[in-house]
Amino acid sequence: MDHFDYLDGAMHVEQVPMAAIADAVGTPVYVYSTATLTRHVGVFREALSRLDDPLIAFAVKANPNAAVLATLGKLGLGADVVSGGELLRAIAAGIAAGRIVFSGVGKTAEEMRLALEHGIFQFNLESEPEAEMLSDVALSMGKRAPVAYRINPDVDAGTHAKISTGKSENKFGIPYDRALESYAAARALPGLDVQGVAVHIGSQLTDLAPLEAAFVKVGALIGKLREAGHDIRTADLGGGLGVPYDPSKPVPPSPADYGAMVTRVAQGWNVRLMFEPGRVIVGNAGALLSRVVRVKQGAQAPFVIVDAAMNDLLRPSLYDAWHDIRAVRPAGGRAAANVVGPVCETGDTFAMHRDMDVVQADDLVAFMTAGAYGATMASTYNSRALTPEVLVSGGKWAVVRARPPIETLIAGDSIPDWVRD
Ligand code: LLP
Repeated sequence: MDHFDYLDGAMHVEQVPMAAIADAVGTPVYVYSTATLTRHVGVFREALSRLDDPLIAFAVKANPNAAVLATLGKLGLGADVVSGGELLRAIAAGIAAGRIVFSGVGKTAEEMRLALEHGIFQFNLESEPEAEMLSDVALSMGKRAPVAYRINPDVDAGTHAKISTGKSENKFGIPYDRALESYAAARALPGLDVQGVAVHIGSQLTDLAPLEAAFVKVGALIGKLREAGHDIRTADLGGGLGVPYDPSKPVPPSPADYGAMVTRVAQGWNVRLMFEPGRVIVGNAGALLSRVVRVKQGAQAPFVIVDAAMNDLLRPSLYDAWHDIRAVRPAGGRAAANVVGPVCETGDTFAMHRDMDVVQADDLVAFMTAGAYGATMASTYNSRALTPEVLVSGGKWAVVRARPPIETLIAGDSIPDWVRD
């Protein structure tokens, strides 16, 4: 559920007309709804309400905007970070270090030091060399790092190959079958305090079965680790729950279904459970607002050329992702169209032969469910300015990331004398 609704024939976000934002800020622009963020946090928390003090660490990569993070932080969420940059963003937004978990296969010694200085809740380790490095860094600072190993359960998440992470051939985690050896080696490292187990098998999962299979493996491992004398106190079940993008497809399992499954599977584990949801919190809370530049005749269907492009919303070109495209003020009628951006490659295509509202030049369109992995994956390809972002709350709205002047982009480069002369 979201708060992008039509009122008097025009799309509003909460009480604000989308057109008012487009007129004031220009397009393309990302628009986020505080009411939707708040609702999703509530729904997710409610789904886990039978668990004892779960740590819900929002996956910052899904939407790292400071205002979004601060909103989620105020609602009590922690953060799952994958870089020093994300760690600093989460802290700057007011999220306490004690609610931060650090994931990722390539943490550098510098990032480890930063996270140890701040005193984060947990590092999710993904390899033995990483464990050794973290132990050394912690010892050099006179500290012990709280860690879990992310295990690779060799489960097929059944999602797009580029966002599947739980198969043995993927780069993530330590092999499930070798976990006991890896844990034994970690326990021997004096700079580590081994406290948990972690798993994350992929993103945009539309079936609970692979998640359940992975969690069952985590449960079995917790038992074996305890038998081997490890003091396991946390289990991080990652993120991955899908959201509805295409209204013609079956809806993914709800947070309530997910929570019921987790509550059943994790019974008796006797750990603090941790979660790293990203998309399910922010996905439907955002839309990319864009203006039609012109409509051009095509061989089979017209090309609707909009002022947003693959640099603003990469998901369709990278993952063939489907985003609903709606007219902000539908004039009536639907027809097939190809929706494309101005970037000079065929991959800059949002939809082909899409049955959608009929639109014409200067009309506004909204790409729905763009709050997750939208603005954060934007680039300046084709020397286009980074996409601005707006946060709405009730009848109020604010620019939470301004559109940088293109001069800033140009000024970022420098021409050495020997090239100039
Ligand atoms: N935890 C870890 C360790 C992750 O790698 C991810 C996402 C999450 C949590 C959050 O997953 P979520 O709940 O959002 O599914 N750019 C892609 C998605 C990449 C996801 C990467 N990892 C997309 O636009 O679909």
